[in-house]
Amino acid sequence: MILREKLLTVFEKEMGNYVSGEELSRKLGVSRTAVWKQVSKLRELGYRIDGTTRSGYRYLGPPDILYPREVRRGLNTRFFGKEVLHFQRVGSTNQVALELARKGYPEGTLVVAEEQTAGRGRWRRPWLAPPGKALLFSLVLRPSLVPYRVPEVTLVTGASVARAIHEHTGLRVGIKWPNDLLYEGKKLCGILVEMEAAAEQVNYLVLGIGINVNQERDDFPPELQDTATSLRMILGEKVLRLPLLQRLLEILEDDYQEYCRDGFAPSRERWLGYQVTLGRRVRISVGGKEFSGEAAGVAEDGSLLLRLPGGDLISCNSGEVVLCREEGEP
Ligand code: BTN
Repeated sequence: MILREKLLTVFEKEMGNYVSGEELSRKLGVSRTAVWKQVSKLRELGYRIDGTTRSGYRYLGPPDILYPREVRRGLNTRFFGKEVLHFQRVGSTNQVALELARKGYPEGTLVVAEEQTAGRGRWRRPWLAPPGKALLFSLVLRPSLVPYRVPEVTLVTGASVARAIHEHTGLRVGIKWPNDLLYEGKKLCGILVEMEAAAEQVNYLVLGIGINVNQERDDFPPELQDTATSLRMILGEKVLRLPLLQRLLEILEDDYQEYCRDGFAPSRERWLGYQVTLGRRVRISVGGKEFSGEAAGVAEDGSLLLRLPGGDLISCNSGEVVLCREEGEP
C-alpha cells in the first residue's frame, strides 16, 4: 500500500478527531515531514483536512470528486464499479467504455468523468455539462441477449435511476418513454445505450448515464434553460454526487441481475410505476416519420403502443416522444 493510501486509512479510522503529526509518523513509520507532504497532496486533491503538523490533523472527509478509491469504498456491489476509471476530462465516457469493452474489460467496468468534451446524447445530439457538476458515467455490460431486446435494458436502467434519485433525494421523478427522466416536465437525466452486436448476439453493451446534479440555470445553454433542470435547482441545495453514484450502482446491479435472471416483466412493472407518458397525447418521430396519437400502453418488450386518431394501434420500439400539452396545462 502506498503511503498516501495508508495515511487515508488511518485518517478514516480517526474521522473528526485530531491526530498529532508525531503519532501519524510513528504509525506510518515515516518522518513528520513525509506526513506533512502527503497531507498537502491530499489537500490539493480536495480532501478536507484541518490543522498543522504542530496542532495535529483532523480529517473531515473526501471531496465530492469521483475518485476510484472513494467510489469503491463502502460500495455494496458484486461487480459493478469494481474496476473504475476516472477522468478529470475526457471526450465521452461512452466512447472510452466501448473501447475498453472491445479490449475485454469485465462486466461492471465503470468509466466516470468530471467533464466531457464530446459527450453524446440520443439522436446524435451533444450532451453538455460544466466540470464537476453532473454525474457522467458509463458501464460495460455483457448480457447474453439478442440485439432486438436491448431496448428493454434501457427501460430497466431508467427505472433504476428513478429509484436511486428517489432514495437519495426524496424526489419522485417521472420517466418519459423510453428513458428520459423528467421533473415537472423538465429533463433531469438522459440514458444512452450503445452496443456491439452480431446478428444473433450482443457482444457488449455500454450504458451511458448523465444526471444533472448541481447545475444552476445559467449552466445550461440558453436553448435548454426552459426544458432542463438539475437536482440542485429543484431542491435548492447542493447534492453530493458520490453517494448518489454508489447507491445507483447498487440498484442498477440488482435490477440488471434480476433482468438477466427473470426477464423483463418485473422491471416493466417498476417502470410503469414511474412513467408519465401513458394516457397522454404524444407526437413521436420514428425513422424520419412523425405520428401523433394517444400513448396507449407499453408492450411486453417495452415498445410504445400508440393509438392513432383513426383508432389503429401501432407499436414503436424506438423514437423520440414529445408530450403534447393537455387542455388547461400551462
Ligand atoms: C440523452 O440524449 O438523453 C442521453 C444522454 C446520455 C449522456 C451520457 S453522459 C455519460 C455518457 N457519455 C456520453 O457521451 N453520453 C452518456
